[in-house]
Amino acid sequence: MESPSLPMTPKDWTTTTLHRACSMQGVEDDVSYVNNSDSQALAITLSKPILISSLQSIKLFSNNSPIRITDLGCATGSNTFTTVDTVVETLLRRYTAGGGSIPEIEAFFSDLPSNDFNLLFKLLTEKQKVDSPTKYFACGVAGSFYDRLFPRGTIHVAVSLSALHWLSQIPEKVLEKGSKTWNKGKTWIEGAKKEVVDAYAEQSDQDLENFLKCRKEEMVKGGVLFALMAGRPSGSSSQLGDQDTRAKHPFTITMEQAWQDLIDEGLIDEETRDGFNIPAYMRSPEEVAVAIDRIGSFKIEKMEYMTVVEHSDAKKEEWKKDPVSYGRARTSLVQAAIRPMVEAYLGPDLCNELFKRYENRVSTNQEFLHKTCFYGIVVFSAIRI
Ligand SMILES: C[S@@+](CC[C@H](N)C(=O)[O-])C[C@H]1O[C@@H](n2cnc3c(N)ncnc32)[C@H](O)[C@@H]1O
Repeated sequence: MESPSLPMTPKDWTTTTLHRACSMQGVEDDVSYVNNSDSQALAITLSKPILISSLQSIKLFSNNSPIRITDLGCATGSNTFTTVDTVVETLLRRYTAGGGSIPEIEAFFSDLPSNDFNLLFKLLTEKQKVDSPTKYFACGVAGSFYDRLFPRGTIHVAVSLSALHWLSQIPEKVLEKGSKTWNKGKTWIEGAKKEVVDAYAEQSDQDLENFLKCRKEEMVKGGVLFALMAGRPSGSSSQLGDQDTRAKHPFTITMEQAWQDLIDEGLIDEETRDGFNIPAYMRSPEEVAVAIDRIGSFKIEKMEYMTVVEHSDAKKEEWKKDPVSYGRARTSLVQAAIRPMVEAYLGPDLCNELFKRYENRVSTNQEFLHKTCFYGIVVFSAIRI
């Protein structure tokens, strides 16, 4: 069949277009990121002791000028607010305990220009009305964390939460139709050909290097760089931990089946599916450590792989009685993360069809509710030396 006319051809799917589409779903509704980010919140809770311990170990900065904190890939809230609060409160406690004057603090909320900054600042303002006096001055910074975002030597604490697994682009080689690196039959790299996985690994390496080079310039000596990103365990060639996780993960098996449904129903052709790729890569702790060593100027304080269980047992019990609402909740979660990307590629109508197929598959597969899926994260904190 003739492929319907699509908003984007694979070759248009470049860095620039990705930057329009790679952000999380804004606005506040069922499929918005702000209402679908519980597992990212859990990842922050699990790794918070590492952040706090680094902040407690550093020499306090001179308080002649403001202390500058940034969250890179902040989305719209509320995880960014709780983390910035953690940083601010930990530092202020230390200054207070030291008995000297208390510095002023600036917090830079940074994300891609397509992020819904209006929602971010609306939620921040609402939060500040409820909380006691403003503890910091807030600013928004639109741009990619793979580029320079701040003047040299100005940032004291940089955090990046559940964001660095998003690559700056789909590797160009993967978009060369008919080549060995064309990702035939897939939209991501779990279970893909070695050539495709290698192309992603190269892109991931280059991106992480750019990220670290920029932070090396921007951060003051003695500052803390803390990051958590979706990742894979040491020595794993698979992007995901185990079979159950693979089956349920939003980028893999069920999602691939939903794409196949569109093909089987004649709504898109195979080439259209094969031209769509998710620009995400799960690094191992070793890959992250090697990049930090290569760039130099950062001393790793802690590096860990952790797992985050996707849903509580109570929630699963509730859903077992109502699989349809499970399908709906799961689809909202997936849409919060990848809908802007899929919609930019397929257009709104086909995008709706894809997520309907996904929802139908999830709601009608009781097995899913009996499987525990977890997300792997790689967490590190490093000091700028
Ligand atoms: C899964 S969300 C995590 C949001 C938030 N940090 C949290 O923990 O809830 C990933 C965020 O990373 C942002 N992001 C992806 N690539 C980026 C880039 N190159 N530069 C800046 N932000 C980026 C996305 O726009 C999105 O807001």
